[in-house]
Amino acid sequence: MPLLRIFRYDPETGEEPRYDEHFVEPEKGLTVLEALLRIKNDVDGSLAIRYSCKSAICGSCATTISDQNRLACQTQLSTLGKVVTVEPLAGYSIVKDLIVDMRHFWEQMKRILPYFITKSKDPEGERLQTPKERKRYDEATWCIMCGACSSSCPVMWTDERYIGPAAFVKAWRFVGDSRDEGAPERLDRVNSEFGVWRCHTIFRCVDSCPKDINPTVAIEKLRKALVRRSFQRKAAQVARHS
Ligand code: F3S
Repeated sequence: MPLLRIFRYDPETGEEPRYDEHFVEPEKGLTVLEALLRIKNDVDGSLAIRYSCKSAICGSCATTISDQNRLACQTQLSTLGKVVTVEPLAGYSIVKDLIVDMRHFWEQMKRILPYFITKSKDPEGERLQTPKERKRYDEATWCIMCGACSSSCPVMWTDERYIGPAAFVKAWRFVGDSRDEGAPERLDRVNSEFGVWRCHTIFRCVDSCPKDINPTVAIEKLRKALVRRSFQRKAAQVARHS
């Protein structure tokens, strides 16, 4: 019978953090989230968990499960061995037990202007793009903003000004989109000492994404876009003075 070790901490009580242990009846298809809810409903109603869709879409139940960031609703308990440890995402302050304060994550996301920017005159109909143009940034649209990647990044742990992999994926989602016209502003924002140049290619963000997105690819594409822009500006400068 697997043993679930659950991190417990309530900053309001002043008590030290602890791990509560519960044996869970193994059952085919039982997810970590279902096991946690079973404990909350049947054993200890004070356990705090964040979840919503139970379908790996909302990203709310991202936690650290046996040392890896995952979605609790997507992770089958039977795949994890005899002892399973569930902890809150690292790098964020703890609200209670498995719930972390995501405000910093959303602030970082806002920094890259995560919405369509258009400047040209609105077309008569839709803004169209070819399948090839869509494919360019397709992977970045899979992001459910669960925060698993940013929470796993050691650079984020040491410097909260670092924009982080989740926001870089979102930045590329718009910079790579042929219909968006906000690339200059967005590229300015990731072109800083806390932007894409700060990534040390540690790749933990890649391992932790529950949607199989590779944030380092997005980071690389943003870097290439910045280098291309810099060459174009230089070439224009040379042309003006020749
Ligand atoms: Fe961090 Fe991922 Fe870069 S873990 S350092 S953002 S490769």
